[in-house]
Amino acid sequence: MTENNFRKPVRIAVFPVAGLGTRFLPATKAIPKELLPIVDRPLIQYAVDEAREAGIEEFVFVTGRGKTAIVEHFDTAFELEATMSGRGKSLEPLESTRMNPGNLVTVRQQVPLGLGHAVWCARAVTGNEPFAIFLPDELMYGSPGCMAQMIEAYNEVGGNLVSVLEVPENEVSSYGVIKPGAVNGNLTQVKGLVEKPKVEDAPSNKIVSGRYILQPEIMDLLASQGKGAGGEIQLTDSMAKLIDTQPFHAVTFEGQRFDCGSKLGFVEATLAIALDRPDMGADVRAMAQRLLG
Ligand code: G1P
Repeated sequence: MTENNFRKPVRIAVFPVAGLGTRFLPATKAIPKELLPIVDRPLIQYAVDEAREAGIEEFVFVTGRGKTAIVEHFDTAFELEATMSGRGKSLEPLESTRMNPGNLVTVRQQVPLGLGHAVWCARAVTGNEPFAIFLPDELMYGSPGCMAQMIEAYNEVGGNLVSVLEVPENEVSSYGVIKPGAVNGNLTQVKGLVEKPKVEDAPSNKIVSGRYILQPEIMDLLASQGKGAGGEIQLTDSMAKLIDTQPFHAVTFEGQRFDCGSKLGFVEATLAIALDRPDMGADVRAMAQRLLG
């Protein structure tokens, strides 16, 4: 295979959204975690908007039982729109929830065997194409967005890319960690990858932060991937095997990242984004000062 084969345009994105969201109970008993709002947009919307900005055309949601509300969110709400139009209300708030017909596909992950397994569940849709992966818990905030920055890098180097950021050393055990090679601006060569290493075994403090561009060969590796860290089928373990045969780089995102998988990160994202919103930032700042004062 020539290097040219590793530069096909990235049109498809996979969103693993089958998780149970137990950390946010009771809020997530009847509502998928991905629909919890940061200000007035559900978490998943931020990831979908980031994907669209990067030129993604086809959206694959890997869902599970109790997650169908996510699909509803991106469907046309005929009654709602007709009623709003009839009352002379603007439909602008619904604009970003519209998908082109046929561009939203769902596949089910029937058992929670791990992130690697969730991604593998999308194989029939991704076929022979490279694809992006978005973990919606990781809210990447900036302009251009994280995936747009990664696509720019992909156009230069091709192959496989992950987004990375540096964390304090004692936090590496919660993440996938890269063994870095040569650094060129925001691009780092990836020489190794390990999922949730012990602090003393971690090859660096650069962690994979929930955005990926992968070549289709990852699916063959995932098909036979055994269990790894935490007894789960880990995407990181299969990615590590790709490094020997295909280009593999990491992009350091220039922007802010909020870990919305944790309550503190969720509150931080809410506050930061509310403060940054032109329509409400000044009022939120005054309110926060009042509360703190
Ligand atoms: C997953 C990935 C890990 C990555 C992390 C980012 O872990 O397996 O490599 O660093 O997401 O949030 P999880 O959070 O599902 O344990």
